[in-house]
Amino acid sequence: MSQQDYIKDIARFGLENDQDKLLSTLNEFIEHNKNTKKINFALQLQSLLKDSLRKQNNHLMKVGSPTHYQTLQDRETDELILEKLTSDYTLNNLVLTEDAADKLNNFLEEHRQSELLSKYNLPVSNKLLFYGPSGCGKTLASYVIAGELNKLMIVVNLGAIVSSKLGETSKNLAKIFRKAAQEDCIIFIDEFDSLGKVRDYSQDHAEMKRVVNTILQLFDYLPQSSMVIAATNQKDMLDEALLRRFDLSISLELPEKEQIEKLINLVLQEDQFIFDKKVSKTALIESAKGLSYYSIQKTLINAIKRSLFAIKSVKSIKPKIDTQIWKDLLEQEKNALAIK
Ligand SMILES: Nc1ncnc2c1ncn2[C@@H]1O[C@H](COP(=O)(O)OP(=O)(O)OP(=O)(O)O)[C@@H](O)[C@H]1O
Ligand SMILES: [Mg+2]
Repeated sequence: MSQQDYIKDIARFGLENDQDKLLSTLNEFIEHNKNTKKINFALQLQSLLKDSLRKQNNHLMKVGSPTHYQTLQDRETDELILEKLTSDYTLNNLVLTEDAADKLNNFLEEHRQSELLSKYNLPVSNKLLFYGPSGCGKTLASYVIAGELNKLMIVVNLGAIVSSKLGETSKNLAKIFRKAAQEDCIIFIDEFDSLGKVRDYSQDHAEMKRVVNTILQLFDYLPQSSMVIAATNQKDMLDEALLRRFDLSISLELPEKEQIEKLINLVLQEDQFIFDKKVSKTALIESAKGLSYYSIQKTLINAIKRSLFAIKSVKSIKPKIDTQIWKDLLEQEKNALAIK
């Protein structure tokens, strides 16, 4: 069947209220998309279908019945989740040091080869921590994992989870993890250090301990099909016992010359733009040192835009970037961030 045939059937069965046929056609359509490599679309449909099936029986639901309870729970977990997403990012979008690339590749390989590992009763690493300064790719790397493994990612809203009410934070965390286990997806806890805020909310140190203990337990019982990725730029805020529970920690630091050069090539989009020769590439890389990937990328893109505007007629196929503009922008960025 073609894509259009499926859509026609889905429309027909939907309008005719033929639930059984609608569901089976939807399932076939999801399979069809998986087979034709539209994995992200298939995952989104699948999640939509699961959500809606869980929310069904909404009508004439008995208060206090198991379905009523489940619906209430779903509504609650929805608030605790920032977003549910699929990702098209791949390793090609990410510049890494050799060490970080090596670790990340091994991690991905474990998931690709999970069947082989389980055959020999070997555990799959599924708890990963990214740490390092702001703008060095922690969030991006997490999206890359979701994209490379074609998994759905639940981005957790830590602001909503960390509650001022005693005991609530732990309960909220447990709800999220339960939800993730149902969906076979990645739980992404960005700004993981915010959990440290619990300390400020309650004078009671016991609450912080309780939260940490909950996370330890949730981590210990995390099903092999689920995955937790946490990211922080304040690793020292995290409890030692918690740090030890991660199967793998990857440090993403400020770029060195080699990574700056790779980042430049990435931004230039396979030489769609070229540099004029006013400032040498080595000097440019030197001026970019000390800045994050984010700052370097941002200033370079701005320089490209300004250079494009300055070109009166786009005669050459490859527009030239005025390197002096970029050098000035790099200096401004460093001054703004008080970097020497
Ligand atoms: N290692 C990298 N390779 C390529 N691009 C990068 C890299 N790091 C950052 N970038 C660029 O900078 C943007 C911001 O990076 P990202 O959000 O991943 O940083 P972060 O480490 O999560 O920072 P924060 O701690 O502030 O959350 C990315 O979307 C990407 O465009
Ligand atoms: Mg981030």
